[in-house]
Amino acid sequence: MNTTVSQTKSRNILVLGAGELGMPVLRNLARRAKTIEGARISVLLRASAVQSDVPAKQRDIAEIRDLGIEIVEGDLVKSSVDELASLFSNYDTVIGCTGYAAGINTPMKLAKAALQSGIPRYFPWQFGVDFEAIGRGGPQDIFDAQLDVRELLRSQSKTEWVIISTGMFMSYLFEPEFGVVDLQNDTVNALGSYDTAVTVTTPDDIGDLTAEIVFYEPTIANEIVFLAGDTVTYGELADKLEVGLSRPFSRSEWTVPVLMEELANDPQNMMRKYRAAFGIGRGMAWDKANTFNVREGIKVTTVSDWIGANLSGK
Ligand SMILES: NC(=O)c1ccc[n+]([C@@H]2O[C@H](COP(=O)([O-])OP(=O)(O)OC[C@H]3O[C@@H](n4cnc5c(N)ncnc54)[C@H](OP(=O)(O)O)[C@@H]3O)[C@@H](O)[C@H]2O)c1
Repeated sequence: MNTTVSQTKSRNILVLGAGELGMPVLRNLARRAKTIEGARISVLLRASAVQSDVPAKQRDIAEIRDLGIEIVEGDLVKSSVDELASLFSNYDTVIGCTGYAAGINTPMKLAKAALQSGIPRYFPWQFGVDFEAIGRGGPQDIFDAQLDVRELLRSQSKTEWVIISTGMFMSYLFEPEFGVVDLQNDTVNALGSYDTAVTVTTPDDIGDLTAEIVFYEPTIANEIVFLAGDTVTYGELADKLEVGLSRPFSRSEWTVPVLMEELANDPQNMMRKYRAAFGIGRGMAWDKANTFNVREGIKVTTVSDWIGANLSGK
């Protein structure tokens, strides 16, 4: 825990992106901002998203407007670091919610722009696993890029930063393409072993908790805040599926040597990189008891809740 006492307050906040994570972050920031004098929220979106005729995008844009959030048009890939720095300098806080959607080099570009802009507070897009515990040189090279961003942020003291570690998005654990939960064959394929653990949190809970952290007093500064909807082993995941869906589940182990061999056969395959990294298990799970949400007594969706809400009847 960092002991710095910060006087920084987030009152003029720019969120980058409004996708799976950005929308819940925006909803919760807007809800909290209503109770905080002088707080206002803006979102940076590409012009193509604002003008899109895709119904789901139009619904999101309408919701953003209804929430009283100001839309700023921009493109994180096309803009230079100088241009982004100039844009960011209109705000006191920038929160990255674009993931790697804008490419593997974008997190570093955004961090450079944030520092150059001189904004008081920056939340990089690091809503994921414990990159430090994982260390460099693992099967998922995008994790190394996230460590580079941490090094840059720590190398200075002008802009305060907050990193929010959430584990995997909970829905991703059940993604058919990920292969861990195979509902067609009622099987759980454990990454690494049945005892390997994974921390998971829903994007809705991440949005709620991010808003709590942004407005938390005393201000959280230069700290990695850990969240967890749940921390389960793959064996426990199978148990929870059996209870929640009232039918037996077979279990198989995808061991690390097997996962590494599959990756070696297709080295650019993103899914295989993730599976191998999660199979090794280091940095992928932490004790829920030590998380911000438990410390603050904030209820979150557990794996059993998620199974009950999303998988019954499947
Ligand atoms: N911890 C985890 O497990 C974890 C973490 C992150 C992501 N994921 C997975 O990865 C997926 C992505 O999630 P996400 O919320 O991070 O991303 P997302 O839902 O794809 O949203 C990305 C956002 O960034 C915007 N964007 C993309 N390129 C841009 C650019 N050049 N300039 C400005 N904005 C740009 C997109 O806008 P447009 O509408 O213009 O495209 C969108 O609003 C999810 O499906 C999630 O399951 C998992």
